[in-house]
Amino acid sequence: MFCTLHRLVRPALRRQLLPATLDSHPSSRHTVQVRAKTSASFRLLEDCLELNYDGKPMHFNYVWLRDHCRSASSYDPATHQRSVDTGSIDLSIRPDSAAAEDDLITLTWPGGHQSQFSFSWLAENSYEEKKRATVQPRILWNADVYKNANVPSAKWDRFMSCDSELKSFLQNYLLYGIAFVDDVPTTVEATESVTQRVSVIRETTYGRMWNFTSDFSRGDSAYSQLALDRHTDTSYFQEPCGIQVFHCLKHEGTGGRTLLVDGFYAAEKLRQRSPEDFELLARVPISHEYIENTEGHRNHMKGIGPVLSIYPWNNELYLMRYNNYDRSVINSIPHGTVRRWYEAHRELTAELRRPENELWIKLSPGRVIFIDNWRVLHGRESFTGLRQMCGCYLTRDDILSAARCFDLQA
Ligand SMILES: [Fe+2]
Repeated sequence: MFCTLHRLVRPALRRQLLPATLDSHPSSRHTVQVRAKTSASFRLLEDCLELNYDGKPMHFNYVWLRDHCRSASSYDPATHQRSVDTGSIDLSIRPDSAAAEDDLITLTWPGGHQSQFSFSWLAENSYEEKKRATVQPRILWNADVYKNANVPSAKWDRFMSCDSELKSFLQNYLLYGIAFVDDVPTTVEATESVTQRVSVIRETTYGRMWNFTSDFSRGDSAYSQLALDRHTDTSYFQEPCGIQVFHCLKHEGTGGRTLLVDGFYAAEKLRQRSPEDFELLARVPISHEYIENTEGHRNHMKGIGPVLSIYPWNNELYLMRYNNYDRSVINSIPHGTVRRWYEAHRELTAELRRPENELWIKLSPGRVIFIDNWRVLHGRESFTGLRQMCGCYLTRDDILSAARCFDLQA
């Protein structure tokens, strides 16, 4: 049954309290003026509130509306936590009536409980709006785009003491997936301090802060002088590390430049050129694995997930797992799809390997780089001589939280 409000509101009535019930005439709609140029109209349908806000249709299921009630008994504004017991809401619940005034709609539920929402809050939190919106705005780049942007680096002194410097660092990090702090003292301790200004250090099997040379002390090619192709780190974790920090403390030799590739830029190129390849890489899970059996270190990590992770409601890319060294046996793809997966993977690899997408930089002592390990791939050229690097992994949640606390969109 299709139940709606019983009357269309004339302009003269807009500021009045306008009641509606489910028994109203199905073809009518209730309209209010919310702001100078924004109007909202709504109808109570059989299973949802239909809202037209600023010309955009949206739908709110009745159970959802009762579950998101912001009344004092349903939600604690001090802790921002839900109090209503969702498990006790009648899944067939429908409001007895609805009334609107200005930007507010009040729903009265069976039993008399009332829920009040502003139309703007509903619009902002609707599925339809989320589907249109971007979770994290980004500037995708190849080498020229990044170089021409002239993104400034933060400076150690100001970075450690001035919130505006930290905020602009975080904004650059969010937009480009890489950000730098210059003039950092060339010690592990200072590197640790600069990272803790940003986020929480994520301790892993490699320790809290790692400080390494090419001594093969661990069972990983990072501990060598060899060139490393572009890759994301810790793809063998169920949740790969969010941020990688590098600081070259000393290098007496040649080579060793760092390679950076914006994986999302390459993936979006693939999506434009070959959407079916993008879709396959986003749908099929594969494994990455880290097996170490050296003196003093025994590890067996395994992470499972697709090469490309996207939010299902807006198809926005948020995580890339690309590590040909650590990719494990492929046994999660049916025989009939394996060839197609390799073709799609090859297309992505071709994008990632385009010379114009490669940003090569020389990490000099005092310059700390933060890399979004969910987006930007890193590699390096081979080198000679003594090269001492330190760094760490940081948690992703905490850097995004820090950004949101500065009102940045993340
Ligand atoms: Fe790496």
